[in-house]
Amino acid sequence: MDVKIVATRPFDGQRPGTSGLRKKVKVFQQPHYLENFVQAIFDTRADLAGGVLVLGGDGRYYNRQAIRIILRMAAANGVGKALVGQGGILSTPAASCVIRKYETQGGIILSASHNPGGPDEDFGIKFNTPNGGPAPEAVSEAIYERTGKLDSYRTLETPDLDLDHIGAVRLGEMTVEIIDPVADYADLMESLFDFAAIRRLFADGTFRMRFDAMHAVTGPYAVELLERRLGAPAGTVMNGVPLEDFGQGHPDPNLAHAKELVAMTKGADGLDFAAASDGDGDRNMILGRNFFVTPSDSLAVLAANARQAPGYKDGIAGIARSMPTSQAADRVAEALGLECFETPTGWKFFGNLLDAGRITLCGEESFGTGSDHVREKDGLWAVLFWINLLAARKLSVAELVKEHWQRFGRNYYTRHDYEAVDAQAAADLMDHLRRLLPGLPGTRLGDYQVEYADDFAYTDPIDGSRSEGQGVRVGFQGGSRIVYRLSGTGTQGATLRVYLEFFEADAARHDQETQEAMRPLILIARELAQIETRTGRAEPDVIT
Ligand code: G1P
Ligand code: ZN
Repeated sequence: MDVKIVATRPFDGQRPGTSGLRKKVKVFQQPHYLENFVQAIFDTRADLAGGVLVLGGDGRYYNRQAIRIILRMAAANGVGKALVGQGGILSTPAASCVIRKYETQGGIILSASHNPGGPDEDFGIKFNTPNGGPAPEAVSEAIYERTGKLDSYRTLETPDLDLDHIGAVRLGEMTVEIIDPVADYADLMESLFDFAAIRRLFADGTFRMRFDAMHAVTGPYAVELLERRLGAPAGTVMNGVPLEDFGQGHPDPNLAHAKELVAMTKGADGLDFAAASDGDGDRNMILGRNFFVTPSDSLAVLAANARQAPGYKDGIAGIARSMPTSQAADRVAEALGLECFETPTGWKFFGNLLDAGRITLCGEESFGTGSDHVREKDGLWAVLFWINLLAARKLSVAELVKEHWQRFGRNYYTRHDYEAVDAQAAADLMDHLRRLLPGLPGTRLGDYQVEYADDFAYTDPIDGSRSEGQGVRVGFQGGSRIVYRLSGTGTQGATLRVYLEFFEADAARHDQETQEAMRPLILIARELAQIETRTGRAEPDVIT
């Protein structure tokens, strides 16, 4: 095997964000750019030499080329075996499943999640550790530091490998095993949920649902699980063929980007259940007839009803939610006498709690829900969990959620995003808020009395690591909150996220339209941060 040592120079800005290194495809296509980041992974993860590496991505533009580059480099860096999803495909939760199941030394996942794909769009890469989860900050930081010092990387000169046929081939001294990307994951799902009950629900013929794969990675997973293993009618999965540009869509399952699906749930004849997942299969949106389940409520409802699913029949250990996620789950934890954790934004912060067995379920307001079955959030898992609940409880989605609100109260919730804002203006806005913090507690903003105001910091209860500057929180008496933070996944300017939550205990007031009910708080949030004067934006670009 002739290892080729290629001279290189460090690139600025290869620090991973909320979820790996995410840039425009054109940035990744610069000579040596991807290679440098990958070499930094091999240099900092010594056990990959002689070990097993899992590799796959969401199938977006540049996925195949990147897989081939990484495979050559893996072989040249002494990796013993690479497990690669057929066609270069692995959804993010499936990659996590495979990393864990085969006790590998970690995985490289190629994805820019819900960001659009194509030659002028986004690409991304991240390293997941042997627990199957996204690299914790210390690991990402070590990789980043290494990218600043590289002067060469290792690769092989070999013809392109066939990624489309299942089976093992050699690449230099390394074995490349092309695996079925769906089977291990589908088996895991079958072990967690009551497939017999769900099969009966579909066989009955009255339950009407659609799953929108948004031309992204979950198509083959959803067809296998819903249509083959569970017997849902053909056509239940929409947009099920993964495309490199996601059919020019924005593969983000929310009310703004999955409009076609949302429309199918409207009216007296609307679907009973509809769901969608994102580019790499880790996000989910849950809809009932004329009903949208906020991701924060979804986490709380799953937690309160977890015992209905065989995989959680003995109850759950604890619950965690990211800081901006609504406090609906906290109320369930309190009622069930469970521990509840508030972590910074990003799935990596759940890893230690899951590994230590302190939590079973966790979630983020950004359409992310998951459990200890893998170490990533998991779109189809959430969808199956919901169908399992509907089959077991024999209630509609709306009935299930309203029953939940009656018991626990309703946390009205919305997120307003201001995208591609001038980066300096966004940073100044956050500084302005931070300066206000000490003076806020005890003051009144409209009808709301400020109870606390801080810049969220988190000490990991397992390893004691500290993460600061995780978002500005303004908390009011009675449980309402405004949270501000800047996105760590964007590739253009800055994205300001404003998260708003207000609590309503009275069931007679649970049927208000969210934006209307939250109007006073929305106006307070805009004024406090001087959003329009500082960013020139009168209205958010995306409301979820
Ligand atoms: C966003 C979400 C966050 C999620 C991440 C990866 O990050 O807000 O909850 O973990 O994508 O899917 P952000 O752009 O806000 O940094
Ligand atoms: Zn994603």
